[in-house]
Amino acid sequence: MEAAFPLQQIPTEEVHVHPGSRIVMHTDPRSAGADRFRFLRMCLRELWNAGKLKSLLITSPLPQDGKSTVALNLATALAEGGKRTVLLIEADLYHPTLTERLGLEGRLGLADCLEGSLHPVLALRRLEPLSWYLLSAGEPRSNPTDLFQTEALARVIQKLSTHFDWILIDSPPLTPLTDALSLARHADATLLVAREGRTPRESLEKAIALLGRQRVLGIVLNGVEGLDRLYSGYYGYSGYSRKNGLKAIGREEARKEVFRFSMKWRGRALRWRVFRPFGVGIFKP
Ligand SMILES: Nc1ncnc2c1ncn2[C@@H]1O[C@H](COP(=O)(O)OP(=O)(O)OP(=O)(O)O)[C@@H](O)[C@H]1O
Ligand SMILES: [Mg+2]
Repeated sequence: MEAAFPLQQIPTEEVHVHPGSRIVMHTDPRSAGADRFRFLRMCLRELWNAGKLKSLLITSPLPQDGKSTVALNLATALAEGGKRTVLLIEADLYHPTLTERLGLEGRLGLADCLEGSLHPVLALRRLEPLSWYLLSAGEPRSNPTDLFQTEALARVIQKLSTHFDWILIDSPPLTPLTDALSLARHADATLLVAREGRTPRESLEKAIALLGRQRVLGIVLNGVEGLDRLYSGYYGYSGYSRKNGLKAIGREEARKEVFRFSMKWRGRALRWRVFRPFGVGIFKP
């Protein structure tokens, strides 16, 4: 019955994708950043083809590492060419930013499906020209953390799963809340986002320990190259690591991390462990 619902019946909404939304896959498709996302897509497709991967949680150790930016670009990359159906779930119920960032009106969404009997397919919209589907956060009436701990989450994801080739879940950071951990239980794998020069190494290690190594598919190191262009106005963040006395992850550091995290995932040795969406190179273990 689930599979019978035609996706064509889902309403389409036009999005004005401006450069500030940082969807380089759309606004600057020939850029190095867009190229990195295509490379990430290629790596993920291998696992998809092997039937090992469909739902992917995107999270990070701390706020503002770039989860939503990676989620938006990856969804656009996976949907490129129109062969695959892609759903992006806005699962940060405390600070939902996706819907607003896309210039869309908030409306019924994930929270409403978790709290009531709303069928999640009825809360979806197809975004053009991005060519993927969005399940907005909605407006939770109860505590979001409690909502994620119910069985309703499994039911919602399962109901959606039959309709899509890919399900990406944009999540809150791993600390200070437990939401991302609850979400990770319902995804096939987790992609961790770290922000170069900012995410402390200790936080990354803690994040991996919390999730469990088997769940972590790879690390996307955000904001590596093109610092001048992409980081202008963001230098305020660089003081972060100094303030709390922790060393932020840098290029060399990340290179070492690659060796550390070059483990197997579901029995498959992955050649690439760190993806650099805004960089030009890829770390090779
Ligand atoms: N590579 C980058 N270069 C410059 N700015 C970036 C980059 N990636 C993300 N940003 C900006 O940093 C801010 C945080 O990014 P984003 O919202 O993607 O992070 P997040 O991890 O989802 O944050 P939150 O924890 O609040 O959900 C946004 O204003 C975004 O535009
Ligand atoms: Mg976010």
